[in-house]
Order: sequence, then C-alpha cells, then structure tokens
Amino acid sequence: MSNKLAVVTGANKGLGFALVKGLCSKYDGTVYLTSRDDKRGKAACEELKKLGLNAEYHQLDIAKHESVKRFCDFLKHKQKKIDILVNNAGILFLKDAPEPKWYQAEETIFVNFSALVNFTEAILPFVSDHGKIVNISSSSGHLSRIPSEELRNKFKSVELNLDDLKNLMVDYVKAAKEGKEKEKGWGDSAYVVSKVGVNAYTFMLHKKLSKRGISVNCVHPGYVMSDMTRGGGSITPEQGAVHALRLALQPEGGGLYVWHDGTPVPWDGPDPRSYIDGKL
Ligand SMILES: NC(=O)c1ccc[n+]([C@@H]2O[C@H](COP(=O)([O-])OP(=O)(O)OC[C@H]3O[C@@H](n4cnc5c(N)ncnc54)[C@H](OP(=O)(O)O)[C@@H]3O)[C@@H](O)[C@H]2O)c1
Repeated sequence: MSNKLAVVTGANKGLGFALVKGLCSKYDGTVYLTSRDDKRGKAACEELKKLGLNAEYHQLDIAKHESVKRFCDFLKHKQKKIDILVNNAGILFLKDAPEPKWYQAEETIFVNFSALVNFTEAILPFVSDHGKIVNISSSSGHLSRIPSEELRNKFKSVELNLDDLKNLMVDYVKAAKEGKEKEKGWGDSAYVVSKVGVNAYTFMLHKKLSKRGISVNCVHPGYVMSDMTRGGGSITPEQGAVHALRLALQPEGGGLYVWHDGTPVPWDGPDPRSYIDGKL
C-alpha cells in the first residue's frame, strides 16, 4: 500500500460513509473515516470490516477548535500528508424543526460554512501538492438561489476574498437575527446561504491552490436517502457518492461545480434544477 492518505469528514453515516466505502475499494492509500462521535465512528469502521474493507478512524468535530487541532497534531506527529480531502460533514434543519429561525441560521452557517472553512484552512499545510479537495455542496449552493442581484454580484465578484466572504455570512446571520433576511434579499433558507458560501469558497480556494497543483471542486450529490432527508430522497448514498469519488480520484479539472448527473454547471448561470432536472 502507498503512503497516500484520504480523509472524509462526517463519515459515520449517510453519504460520508458511502464515500469512505468507495475510497476503501478504489483508492490505493489509507482512508480515514472521521466522526465527531467516537462510538458512532468506530461502529462505522466495524461495519466496513464486515464488508472486507479497512478504514482507519480518527475523531473529528469540524466545529470544535480542540478537535481540529488534535487531528492536525496527529497528522504532524505521523508526518502524514493528505492526498484526498472530502468535506462532507453538514447539517440541515428541516421545515418542521422547532428551533427558532435565528438559531437555525446561526448554527447552519457555523457548521456548513465557517467550520468547513476553518477546518480546511487548518488542514491545508497537511495537504500534499497535487492533492484533491472535494466539498460536498448541494443544489442549494447554486448562486441563483440567492434572490438579490446585488448579493449575487458580491458573491461572484473576482475581487471577493475570504474575509469578504466571511463578512457576507456575518451579514446574513445578522439579518436573520433581526428577522430581515427576506427583506435584505437573502431568501428564507440558511442552508442555501451556507452552501452558496461553500461554493464561493471552493472557487476561491482552487485559484489559491492551483499553483501547488491542488484541485478543489464542489459537487451536488443529488437527493440522497439519509438521516438528513429522514430517509426520503431518490438515490442511495452509494449513488450519491459517484461523482464526488470521481472528483477525488481522477479530477478532470478544478474550480468546478458538478451536478448530480456528472455535468459541470456554471455557478452563476441558470438554475440547473430546471434545465437538467426539468423540475422548475
Ligand atoms: N441528503 C441529501 O439529499 C443531500 C443533498 C445535497 C447535499 N447533501 C450534503 O451531503 C452531506 C452529507 O449529508 P447526508 O445526507 O449524508 O447527511 P447525514 O446522514 O445527516 O450525515 C451528516 C454527517 O455529518 C456529520 N456532522 C454534522 N456536524 C458535524 C460536525 N460538526 N463535525 C463533524 N461531523 C459532523 C454527522 O455526524 P453525526 O452522525 O454525529 O450527526 C453525519 O456523520 C452534507 O454536507 C449535506 O449537506 C445532502
């Protein structure tokens, strides 16, 4: 086995687990299944063993600074470099969630955007040159999902840097806390704003890392049967993992937003839910 290493976040179940499963079968290197909960993570590794697959385990809560630091220290100590990183961990408050809207907004941006960014920035020194980073986005990450043209222009500006992007997210959370998110053009979905942020970060990071030969892509996996969708969905986690795995194993480019049918789509173009899925 080679000295290469792949890491998947939020991998104890759902799409993350399927991604680890796929990597264990197809990747010539060590695969790290990470989970914020030790018990769930270790149980997932045991499940893989029953399938004849081997993944290493490490605890990782991307939203907790100490946990991220522990994981980085572990990599440093082991002198390990990451060849593949899949940022999969994420949350969604469904429409009937009892938590107040302001809390949903804050928590969704914190986990799906801020924690993903903070974790990725912390782990970057351990990503090898020519490595691959795949961010699991969503159809909700398409720029057209933000109603305000002014905001869309800010997101797609070539001048936008990471601080600007973080500030946009702060503006959104502030608007949501004041109950003014719709009035200010953000729409009514914190999940949309968080995934639009993930996509903007993907393109920015790809630009920054391309001189090291690192490709950074994001993917909409499709409507996946998982706990997030309460078992709803039209495809299995294994089917949802197909294009993310392709981007991790043999990327055909970088800075791409890949739809669930495998097509790279323009982020600031028309909503692919209509011209690909035919659903709008
Ligand atoms: N399901 C869909 O239809 C769909 C569609 C588009 C995009 N996605 C995206 O696909 C990804 C995976 O979703 P899924 O459907 O597999 O959902 P899921 O079954 O709910 O799994 C989410 C995973 O993320 C983990 N997680 C949450 N917060 C975390 C944190 N702070 N640190 C580390 N791990 C954390 C969860 O851990 P616990 O088990 O400890 O909670 C779980 O392992 C998400 O990014 C989601 O937004 C899903």
